[in-house]
Amino acid sequence: MDFFKNSELHIDPNIQLEGKVGWKSPSNIALIKYWGKYRDQIPMNPSVSFTLSQAYTQTICEYKTKKKDDNKISIDFYFEGKQKPEFARRINLYFKSLLDVFPFLTQLEFEIFSDNSFPHSSGIASSASSMSSLALCLSSIERNIFNIHLDEDEFLKKASYVARIGSGSACRSIFPKISLWGKVNEIPESCNKYGIPMEDYLHKNFKNYHDDILIVSKIAKSISSSDGHVIMSDHKFKEGRIQQVNKRMHFMMRALETGDLEKFGEILENEALTLHSLMMSSEPAYLLIEPNTVKILQRIESFRKEKKLPVYYSLDAGPNVHMLYPNSIAEKVTEFIDNELVKYCKDGDYIKDYLGSGPKEIDFS
Ligand code: PMV
Repeated sequence: MDFFKNSELHIDPNIQLEGKVGWKSPSNIALIKYWGKYRDQIPMNPSVSFTLSQAYTQTICEYKTKKKDDNKISIDFYFEGKQKPEFARRINLYFKSLLDVFPFLTQLEFEIFSDNSFPHSSGIASSASSMSSLALCLSSIERNIFNIHLDEDEFLKKASYVARIGSGSACRSIFPKISLWGKVNEIPESCNKYGIPMEDYLHKNFKNYHDDILIVSKIAKSISSSDGHVIMSDHKFKEGRIQQVNKRMHFMMRALETGDLEKFGEILENEALTLHSLMMSSEPAYLLIEPNTVKILQRIESFRKEKKLPVYYSLDAGPNVHMLYPNSIAEKVTEFIDNELVKYCKDGDYIKDYLGSGPKEIDFS
């Protein structure tokens, strides 16, 4: 029996309900990457990420009861003010996959409005922020309709479980600063089905840590992350990757706990390069980084060595570069980016981001 599933939750057909909920939820950058999964979005390995602040999605859900429950999902979806049928189809499938958690979804009709804080098609993956904000909206709707009194921790745990079903990495965006998803033996509360908050674990050296996102390309990726996870299922280096990533997770957690910025940075960069080397060595092989990605990585490395400053990079499944560094050196790094790196960025664009305090509910009262 799954704690999160509740087949009893049906709306009394004699009651006419309507309401509106909204959440702003941030993106995150994985320090140890989730790459590859089993059935039902169970990750092949644990992952840990920093929750961001400036790159977020705001989702507003308006709902009302349907005249008749026809067992169908009914959604009008607007992205940045316009109807987007391709996104609506994905959300429709997502709602269907949630019917054993929220059986009342077929009893309501929805209008959903979603907006990103970062420019549309900036090449920034938005599935973590968009799916986490939607999952939080659905969890709020359940709470409002059925007067369910979950405490804050249980509410977020359930929202993380629901977000995971939409997009694995989204389950980590639910928590402030840092979150872990996937079973790690030395952390008993860790779990494959939802993320957990890890803020108490984080050393003060990571307080106000920065993550600037250098936009190398704004074009949609040739292979989506969903396809990438599938390709990992029979990757020839799969077993080796699982062994390696579990070891790395152990050392990354220690670096985060002890504030060892050098060890942190070394593992961070290894993980980024490993993610892309798994793509380059899969069948079919594919390449998501671009010449300017490589130039930026090389410049970051030489800047770090010349100036003896703890600036390290990470990559998502795409060509854009994340630069992570402590607040104490922010001025020097901004100068470095403006003088030497913006020339490699598409239209000179980059996003200045940093660790954030997690999702916020929108108050309509
Ligand atoms: O959550 P998905 O299915 O978009 O996959 C995310 C994969 C990476 O961004 C590459 C790594 C991660 O852990 O966020």
